[in-house]
Amino acid sequence: MGTANDKIRIALVGAGGMGQGDARDAARVAGVEIAAAADIYDSRLDRMKEIYPAIATTRDYRDVLARTDIDAVIVATPDHWHAQIAIDALAAGKDVYCEKPMVQKIEDGKRVIAAATKSGRIFQMGSQYASAHCFEKIGQLLQSGAIGELNMVEAWLDRNTAIGAWQYSIPPDASEQNIDWDRFLGSAPKRPFEPIRLFRWRNYRDYGTAVAGDLYVHLFTGLHTATGAVGPTRIYSTGGLRYWNDGRDAPDMQVGVIDYQASARHPRFQFVMRVNFKSSKADEDFGYRFIGSEGAITTDISSVTLSRVPREKEPGNTADTFSRQMEADYIRAYRERYPILPATAATLRRPTVQRFTSPRDAHEIHMRNFIDAVRTRKPFFEDAEYGFRATGPALLCNVSYFEKRVCHWDAVTMTAS
Ligand SMILES: NC(=O)c1ccc[n+]([C@@H]2O[C@H](COP(=O)([O-])OP(=O)(O)OC[C@H]3O[C@@H](n4cnc5c(N)ncnc54)[C@H](O)[C@@H]3O)[C@@H](O)[C@H]2O)c1
Repeated sequence: MGTANDKIRIALVGAGGMGQGDARDAARVAGVEIAAAADIYDSRLDRMKEIYPAIATTRDYRDVLARTDIDAVIVATPDHWHAQIAIDALAAGKDVYCEKPMVQKIEDGKRVIAAATKSGRIFQMGSQYASAHCFEKIGQLLQSGAIGELNMVEAWLDRNTAIGAWQYSIPPDASEQNIDWDRFLGSAPKRPFEPIRLFRWRNYRDYGTAVAGDLYVHLFTGLHTATGAVGPTRIYSTGGLRYWNDGRDAPDMQVGVIDYQASARHPRFQFVMRVNFKSSKADEDFGYRFIGSEGAITTDISSVTLSRVPREKEPGNTADTFSRQMEADYIRAYRERYPILPATAATLRRPTVQRFTSPRDAHEIHMRNFIDAVRTRKPFFEDAEYGFRATGPALLCNVSYFEKRVCHWDAVTMTAS
């Protein structure tokens, strides 16, 4: 490795929806070969052979880690396997692109960070908002003082379809002959074969991380990328299972109220976020709103809108409820203090609106950033620590929700209480 022309051979572990998408993005980069794949369902491996005829496939991810011709590994299994496979891959000397959330359990976060540090390999979490143009743009606007002092941020990700609510297809041929059930379960509690728990694993906390681990991680990543914040201090989350009552043990509507302390780059602010699998829109509704003392910035990923509202030139008055004499006296004194100004856009406080477009799909850019890091040996900024700074608080939202309590997070030491 070392030059831009060197070939990079990648192995995919977990060849489902996201894994196949990640592999596709990686394969688009010149010089990258998807050389091996591991999955515990044979039909997914057959699909990989249809797409990449020369690929080597296996049910056991350790086979691909043992190969000396593999440079990097994409980990795109269900969440409960991320930490173990990432740690094993780093120990085997591979660079790792690990899908979000980096870990399923908070206590594994530092294990992955330590493994990445010890190995000296590249580690990047697959949370593409770190590479999304819109958050870089918002960061520049915030730093230039475009909305004055930041005081709160809202983010929402609502969906209104069965697939959006994780009801993925279950293949009719699913059996213990073509699925390695024990290998899927891994460290999760042992239980008899039940395909729904594999194909809709997000619905079960034995394998997934509920709404917060699946989607809040993205919202935290975008927030941290835009503001430069390292993490929150206090976390409260509530919600419920409102609509998709299909046997899942995770909520389908969850809100979070999160405190951020001041730093050199931003003042103290609140982050309020929501994921709801019902919405007023037919499909997905997604956005952020950064509110400041002189305006707001909104984004739906594909565009950024800056609305500036000039500060008040005078405070106004409500003297018309006083006696006529009192009103007249009050207004006279008021106008001495605040003379009538000529009508301009600023004195009339007309908002100005500017729109910036940005490419919507950050996945491909994020994967390119990983491949660049593998080639240059200079890690992209979303390393294991950055990944855990979004994953830890997202998982703490689950602790808050399930234990019905306020949680605390030390953003510097990345410790929960
Ligand atoms: N970055 C994003 O926007 C994004 C989007 C979707 C999913 N993801 C993440 O990607 C990961 C995969 O999600 P998905 O939607 O592709 O799920 P999926 O169910 O479609 O794919 C997971 C695959 O992993 C396989 N698998 C399970 N246990 C395995 C093991 N021990 N070894 C090898 N393979 C195993 C399954 O058979 C399946 O093919 C999740 O962690 C999810 O959070 C990220």
